[in-house]
Amino acid sequence: MRKLTYFIACSIDGFIGDPGGDASSMLAFVDEEYLGFLKEEYPETMSTPGRRAFGVDDLPNKKYDTIIQGRASYDLALEIDVTSPYAHMREYVASRTLKESPDPHVEIVSEDLVGKVRALKAEDGGLGIYLCGGSQLAGELLDEIDELVIKTYPVMLGTGMPMFGSGFAVTEFSLGETRTFKNGAIVRTYTRNR
Ligand SMILES: NC(=O)c1ccc[n+]([C@@H]2O[C@H](COP(=O)([O-])OP(=O)(O)OC[C@H]3O[C@@H](n4cnc5c(N)ncnc54)[C@H](OP(=O)(O)O)[C@@H]3O)[C@@H](O)[C@H]2O)c1
Repeated sequence: MRKLTYFIACSIDGFIGDPGGDASSMLAFVDEEYLGFLKEEYPETMSTPGRRAFGVDDLPNKKYDTIIQGRASYDLALEIDVTSPYAHMREYVASRTLKESPDPHVEIVSEDLVGKVRALKAEDGGLGIYLCGGSQLAGELLDEIDELVIKTYPVMLGTGMPMFGSGFAVTEFSLGETRTFKNGAIVRTYTRNR
């Protein structure tokens, strides 16, 4: 069984971006130490243009070989003319409005999202599945999430886009690894209690 992991950046007060979802205020914390950690442990979570910019596009995937994101998150790539933003993984985009995929490498999931994710999780072997976000997609897939990797940056937003666009539900997780950085960032891994 492959795991579905929500790997997500957030503020101290738990927002993944400003009210519109813009997470650029958190980019300032991607410094040398932090980048070294990403390269070492999660190189595949860097986008294809990011990997190229940092000269690491040859690094093998360590934790995930499949990514799923919501159409609004994928739009950010399309806006800069990138149609396959994670070309080093199998790419899925959830959308009921995108009738045709802009890229042969990207598969659109328009129906039975949960069924598709369950089928991906049931595949034999391989690495895990990276749930990229955003908020709405994570809310819809909350019951399928096996693990959280929460990258908390030392910034408060006051209000913004929540980590999960879902209703109230108490869902317990167990804390695994915690990693702290000199710039105040903390990366915590949680496993879902089933
Ligand atoms: N901080 C971080 O690490 C991080 C990571 C990722 C994203 N973000 C931010 O999150 C923001 C976007 O989040 P969001 O909540 O607005 O949108 P989102 O979750 O990225 O995408 C929502 C869209 O996904 C599609 N969708 C959702 N559920 C579906 C289902 N069951 N079946 C088929 N399609 C489904 C729909 O697309 P259609 O409307 O096309 O049907 C929906 O409008 C961005 O601004 C981005 O910056 C932050």
